Amino acid sequence: MTGTPTLARTRDELAAALAAQDLAPVRGNPHRRAVVMTMGALHAGHLSLVEQARTLADQVVVTIFVNPLQFAPTEDLARYPRDLDRDLELLTGPGLLGADDVVFTPDVDVMYPGGDPIVRVTAGAIGDVLEGAERPGHLDGVLTVVLKLLHLTQPDVAIFGEKDAQQLAAVRRMVRDLEVGVQVVGGTLVRDDDGLALSSRNAYLSAEQRAQALALSAALRAGVAASDEGRHAVLNATRAALAPVDEIGYVALVDPDTFTDATTGPALLLLAARVGATRLIDNTALVLGADDGEARS
Ligand code: PAF
Repeated sequence: MTGTPTLARTRDELAAALAAQDLAPVRGNPHRRAVVMTMGALHAGHLSLVEQARTLADQVVVTIFVNPLQFAPTEDLARYPRDLDRDLELLTGPGLLGADDVVFTPDVDVMYPGGDPIVRVTAGAIGDVLEGAERPGHLDGVLTVVLKLLHLTQPDVAIFGEKDAQQLAAVRRMVRDLEVGVQVVGGTLVRDDDGLALSSRNAYLSAEQRAQALALSAALRAGVAASDEGRHAVLNATRAALAPVDEIGYVALVDPDTFTDATTGPALLLLAARVGATRLIDNTALVLGADDGEARS
C-alpha cells in the first residue's frame, strides 16, 4: 500500500472521504469496501483483521471508537487504553492501509449526538448468557454501535475477530434477523508465542499476572485434549486447569451459532476469568464426543 489513509473525525468528513474514494470499478469488478471496527489500543490481532480485509476488498475502513454503551458503570471505560497516534502509526504499516482507505475516529458526541440512544438493538437470547450474563447490556451496546457504524460506513464486508466469539455470533444473527446488507467474516484469533490470546486488556497485566493468565490458553488445550470423552470431561478438565486465575467467570461449551449448550459435534469452548483486576476471555473450536459421564465439579 502506498500513501496515507484519510482520517475522518466527523460524519461529514467520513461521508466526504467515502464519496471521494467512491472508486471506479476495479478491472471491471465492482469496487468493494470492507470495514474493521475497533476500540483502538491496536495490537497484532487487529492488524491481522485489517490484512484479512485487504484480501477481501479494495478499500478498507477502520473505525476506532471506545463505545460507552457497551461498558457497565462499574467497568473500565475511563481507563480503557487509548493512543490514537500509535494506532495510526500501526495502521499505516507495510501491507495495511493506503491512500484509498479511511480511518474513522468519531468522538462520543459524533456517534451519539442526542446523548445515549433511546432505541437500541437487543441481542435477545444470545445476549443473556455468558458475556451477556456477566455484563448485562454489553452485547446490546455492541450491536447498537455496530449497526450505526455499518450504516455510516456502508461496507460490503465486515470483519470481526473470533476472539470475541459471542460478539461475532450476535453480529451474524443481527445481520440475518434485521436484513442488514453486509457479509460478516470471522477473523482468526491471534495468540502470542506463549499462547496468550491478544487483547487490548493484556496491557493491564503485570509480568506476574501475565504468567498467571497463561492458564486460560492452557485450560483450552486441556479441554480440547478431553474432547473425545464428551462434554463433562471437557468442562472438568478446563476448570481444573484454570486453578491459577483469581476467579473463573464461566467455562462453557456451546453451539457456535446459537450459544445454547452443545452436547456432541462441533462446539465452542469458551471461558472468562479474572487475573488481578483484569477480566480476560478466550475460546477455541472443538468437536465433542458423546458424553456418558457426570460433571464432577
Ligand atoms: O470488538 C470490539 O472492539 C468492539 O466490541 C466493537 C465491535 C468495535 C464495537 O464497539
